[in-house]
Amino acid sequence: MTVAVIGANGQLGADVVAAFRNAGKATAQLTHADLDISSLEWTRKTLSSVRPSIIVNTAAMHNVENCEKESLRAYEVNALGARNLSIVARELEAKLVHVSTDYVFDGSKKRPYVESDPATPLNVYGNTKLAGEAFIRETAEKYFIVRTSALYGRNPCRAKGGRNFVDLMLKLAGERDELRVVDDEVVSPTSTTELAKQIAELIRGDHYGLYHATAEGSCSWYEFARTIFEITNTKVNLNIADPNEFPAKVPRPKYSVLENQGLKKLGLNSFASWQEGLTRYLATSYCAA
Ligand SMILES: NC(=O)c1ccc[n+]([C@@H]2O[C@H](COP(=O)([O-])OP(=O)(O)OC[C@H]3O[C@@H](n4cnc5c(N)ncnc54)[C@H](OP(=O)(O)O)[C@@H]3O)[C@@H](O)[C@H]2O)c1
Repeated sequence: MTVAVIGANGQLGADVVAAFRNAGKATAQLTHADLDISSLEWTRKTLSSVRPSIIVNTAAMHNVENCEKESLRAYEVNALGARNLSIVARELEAKLVHVSTDYVFDGSKKRPYVESDPATPLNVYGNTKLAGEAFIRETAEKYFIVRTSALYGRNPCRAKGGRNFVDLMLKLAGERDELRVVDDEVVSPTSTTELAKQIAELIRGDHYGLYHATAEGSCSWYEFARTIFEITNTKVNLNIADPNEFPAKVPRPKYSVLENQGLKKLGLNSFASWQEGLTRYLATSYCAA
């Protein structure tokens, strides 16, 4: 049984490879150089030569501002790419795991979103990811769509210039007298290690469908930063940014907390609180170094 991981050198993809390896599975690590998911022929050719029984797609165009500027390309990758993978997964009779996003929601609910809540994205990124989900539902037979939120991991996020929020805060704390962080966007910061383990667990069964998969609980970016500094005992002058101090160039949901209702119904939810996930990340990434 081979697991093909697409986006294998990405922030999440590298941890997905590690999670399946730890579970004793053979992995094919596919990067953008091996295939471009927006091309059906290229996708078919590459995956047909691997003949995986499981395909995990972590690839996306997910820099929110770039998606706005290059909306056609975002649609090709996030929507048509998902469709292409569904077609090839069906041809190969492979299970398909597709990673999606909390940004399919507009944030107006103000309570954690469950899988059955209607999705009304605010921006091109969210719309193209939602279109990708629709193609998968329509085309794939054995699929898991896994929506997640605010990822951080040991491997650099390629779409966002390499440094995740945790690492950025710790770097800036060493460089600046004061840090100011927004308090009006609420998320569930999720460790890619924990998400990768959850994906490896979920695909063992055949409960196909849509799943929310984030750390438990939620916080604003300001609260996240404060907790990073508390756990690492970093002395820094941290303050809440004034409203409109960092005006968003692209509309984003102010509240995108996901409830892992589907995983909980199956008794499969393996996520701890975001604070525990963060503590583990800091212990393995910093203290052990
Ligand atoms: N990061 C977050 O906070 C966050 C939050 C919610 C959901 N997500 C979702 O989580 C997934 C993984 O995110 P991540 O943080 O691991 O991203 P990442 O580090 O940017 O990794 C994405 C990977 O996909 C590859 N890729 C991009 N376009 C491709 C294409 N057309 N064909 C094949 N490969 C392509 C990239 O390669 P190149 O860099 O060489 O192009 C990279 O290896 C994405 O689906 C994203 O939408 C992320």
